[in-house]
Amino acid sequence: MEIILAPHAGFCFGVEKAVNMVYDELHTGEKISTYGPIIHNEEVVRDLESRGVTVVDDAASSAHAGKGAGTMILRSHGVTKAAEEAIRAKGYKVVDATCPFVKRIHKIVQEAGEAGHEVVIVGDPAHAEVEAIAGWTDAPVHIIKEVAQAGEFRVSKDAEITLVAQTTFNLKKFQEIVAILEQNVYNIHVVNTICNATEVRQTEAEEIATSVDCMIVIGGKGSSNSRKLYEICKENCEKTHFIQTLEDLPADALKGVQTVGITAGASTPKNIIEEVLGYVRTTNF
Ligand code: F3S
Repeated sequence: MEIILAPHAGFCFGVEKAVNMVYDELHTGEKISTYGPIIHNEEVVRDLESRGVTVVDDAASSAHAGKGAGTMILRSHGVTKAAEEAIRAKGYKVVDATCPFVKRIHKIVQEAGEAGHEVVIVGDPAHAEVEAIAGWTDAPVHIIKEVAQAGEFRVSKDAEITLVAQTTFNLKKFQEIVAILEQNVYNIHVVNTICNATEVRQTEAEEIATSVDCMIVIGGKGSSNSRKLYEICKENCEKTHFIQTLEDLPADALKGVQTVGITAGASTPKNIIEEVLGYVRTTNF
């Protein structure tokens, strides 16, 4: 069986940095919390919890708050300005593990609001990254997730719009949405904030999926970039499996398969990829 492993499968720069920051903080001996899961991978979050890291979802009601609150690490995909302020007000030492590419979007929307612009975020309104971005501006925020919504989008002729994207948004869909908006909105400043790590993984996944019999996408259920890799692969390879760990792979997944492609989302740790790779290498049907 021929195996093609996507060269960029697994941790991106921002996720690696954030996870390392948490492990580094563990050495300080302080009480460590993360605001929301540090990354969208249950295995990593579980491992950190086993080392005493607490996941806090609401700083305002956190039981750890007050004197000796310890350290709060802001998750890789960012938190709202209000949440960050609430965390500081509760007395936590704040370690900001927001990916620098996400932080850049916070700055863009903040400045857009200060300049009197309205903000369009192309992304999933239910995703924590998008919620956080929206929380960094006082401007009216419009969130567009689907191409159909772009056609219906209207603002006053005089409105100035700054448009950004969720870092993990599908590039092709983003381009379609922007093309439609540019026809209907007069003053629109488009900043393509889709992260290069996402583009690279999506392009690789598409290329590999078109040339294999079976595709395995490894990623957390809550990881939007992993899910998008799955969608892209499924479009190009009917036999695509989306798994969180090796246990999720159906026993007969490789039956009759000559070539198999493997990719993994930006929040998938190396050890899980290696486990799947090892299994595929040693399986014979
Ligand atoms: Fe950052 Fe891009 Fe990863 S935005 S967290 S490097 S996918």
